[in-house]
Amino acid sequence: MDWPAGEAAFVTGAASGIGLGIARALVAAGAKVALADVDEDRLAEAAEELTAAGGTVTAVRLDVSDEKSWATAADRAEEALGPISLLCNVAGVNGGGPIEETPLTIWRWVLGVNVDGQFIGASTFLPRFRSRGTRAHILNTASVSGLVPMANVGAYTASKFAGVGFTMVLREELRDSDVGVSLLIPGTVATRINLTAGEAEAKLLGRRLNREIAEANHAVLAAGADPDRVGEQVVEAVRDGRFVIVTHREWGALVRRTHAEIEDAYEAFDGRHGPDPTARMLTGGTNPVSA
Ligand code: NAI
Repeated sequence: MDWPAGEAAFVTGAASGIGLGIARALVAAGAKVALADVDEDRLAEAAEELTAAGGTVTAVRLDVSDEKSWATAADRAEEALGPISLLCNVAGVNGGGPIEETPLTIWRWVLGVNVDGQFIGASTFLPRFRSRGTRAHILNTASVSGLVPMANVGAYTASKFAGVGFTMVLREELRDSDVGVSLLIPGTVATRINLTAGEAEAKLLGRRLNREIAEANHAVLAAGADPDRVGEQVVEAVRDGRFVIVTHREWGALVRRTHAEIEDAYEAFDGRHGPDPTARMLTGGTNPVSA
């Protein structure tokens, strides 16, 4: 049987969308799955569906941004399923609008869920993975917004750029270990993120959801990739130990355009400060302690 058959996985954001798609694909691949999410109703539905499909699953209520809840959630998952060897950090929220109209509460909420959530998840499971010394894997979910800045989603873009950086460093630091790392960079996927997060954001601000805007944003995603197919792609990539997982070819040109502006600035620079010692360490293949 191919890894992760027989292994136990912990998937955040598993009650909906990409997280649920990954959970379904893991069950189909013969893995046991701990489904973690804040949405208890959808979580119960997902657990019921996957159990009926013959899966071994357990549902764990978890707010990924709440540091104190992670250890308990991990303990409960391991009591139910045995040692976890695959962490899929998928839970995420979108919120705020143009930067100058984004309240700090929303900025902190988006970064708390999207960045802190993945950091705390990795920090909770890494020592467990390391102490066992057997094959393990961490998948972090970023977004094309983590490579190509998009107007009007500043908090989300900042969180996803942070997620890309965090995951790239994690890969470097775990390069010679038994813990693999993957970075999922979805383009448009047909999920309910704009409704889920829209409702949560409105609640945080003590407002009613602007249904018209939420439905319009939701309609754009509806034409995106099927989250279940993305889930299958993720399980395949994790099994094969691939690092970067992308979902739509068009983004390649947009990523190149973003990077080209930065590369061009280096090309045009007159080099007035002389050679950079840290850059020389990197080109020599040594990762500097600090830059
Ligand atoms: P979704 O809204 O369908 O699923 C996200 C799940 O995360 C929901 O079940 C929600 O209850 C849960 N969640 C939200 N806050 C949480 C918290 N604090 N703790 C635990 N669970 C929480 O959305 P989707 O699209 O499946 O999103 C999954 C990931 O994919 C996110 O990280 C998102 O940023 C990313 N993504 C999605 C894209 C898309 O087009 N749908 C594109 C690029 C990235």
